[in-house]
Amino acid sequence: MNVATPTLPDAQTVTSVTHWTDRLFSFRVTRPQSLRFRSGEFVMIGLMGDNGKPLLRAYSIASPAWDEELEFYSIKVPDGPLTSKLQHIKPGDQIILRPKPVGTLVHDALLPGKRLWLLSTGTGFAPFASLLREPETYEKYEQVIMMHTCREVAELEYGRQLVESLTDDPLIGEMMAGKLIYYPTTTREDFHHKGRVTDNLSSGKVFGDLGLPTMNPAEDRAMVCGSLAFNIDVKAILEGFGLTEGANSDPQQFVVEKAFVGDGI
Ligand code: FAD
Ligand code: A2P
Repeated sequence: MNVATPTLPDAQTVTSVTHWTDRLFSFRVTRPQSLRFRSGEFVMIGLMGDNGKPLLRAYSIASPAWDEELEFYSIKVPDGPLTSKLQHIKPGDQIILRPKPVGTLVHDALLPGKRLWLLSTGTGFAPFASLLREPETYEKYEQVIMMHTCREVAELEYGRQLVESLTDDPLIGEMMAGKLIYYPTTTREDFHHKGRVTDNLSSGKVFGDLGLPTMNPAEDRAMVCGSLAFNIDVKAILEGFGLTEGANSDPQQFVVEKAFVGDGI
């Protein structure tokens, strides 16, 4: 395997790796002392390519801004240029990390509201793994609803364990008590809640299940992260509820970011 050598200026050391399924893993790396980021942002990370040039991809930072390490939650694409190699990293290996965080899934890009909806599929959970561990999330909202949909139950496990761990978190535990609602669903395996995020929103099922009013622009804010098709479908639904898309430069009622760039897009 080709990994970055310690002589590279942007090299960081892997501290732990967890494999969740044959398609998903997470890992933690050392954090450059100078790196400041806002919970929810992404950076470019990668390995040295066979041609001696860095092979970099966008990755959401899954850890919160206050964490002394950085965490990432990753897909394993069997013949993916980066992840076919990245999936084999071990503690002590080095990766390249360009310390230039950017992104729209940040609190500053939303107007104040009562409820925050975090809507994701697959590895789109990653930026929310950061925001769920961010105190500002609970300072700003009365309720935080985390919807995450995967094909199978095993693909929800990283998110499930992360949400469970928040209860005992010394920083977040007390702040999030009674505020965080976790609503995971599957689409291709039996589970206590089923169905696409889009279907559960547009049918009103999630509002009925949780005893919440239908989303409205006065009270609800949302952050969206999934495939391009997911993002397009969710955006249309949120706009149907009267919410307007915002950005860092123009805070509004919801923001969207791609979890990955799909084939041919
Ligand atoms: P690529 O050549 O990049 O991708 C090959 C194909 O694999 C793609 O065409 C697509 O069909 C599929 N694919 C790629 N990424 C995913 C994915 N995450 N889920 C499902 N299918 C995928 N990936 C992560 O795993 N975790 C992240 O936190 C993450 N954050 C991202 C943030 C942004 C803003 C963007 C644009 C992408 C993000 N990605 C993330 C995707 C990531 O940049 C790479 O595409 C991914 O690591 C695969 O790299 P690769 O070189 O192996 O394959
Ligand atoms: P489904 O099983 O009905 O396709 P994937 O693994 O393909 O990235 O999908 C992750 C999850 O996102 C799956 O549960 C999938 O549901 C769901 N999904 C895929 N496309 C959309 C979409 N356009 N709108 C809502 N959910 C979607």
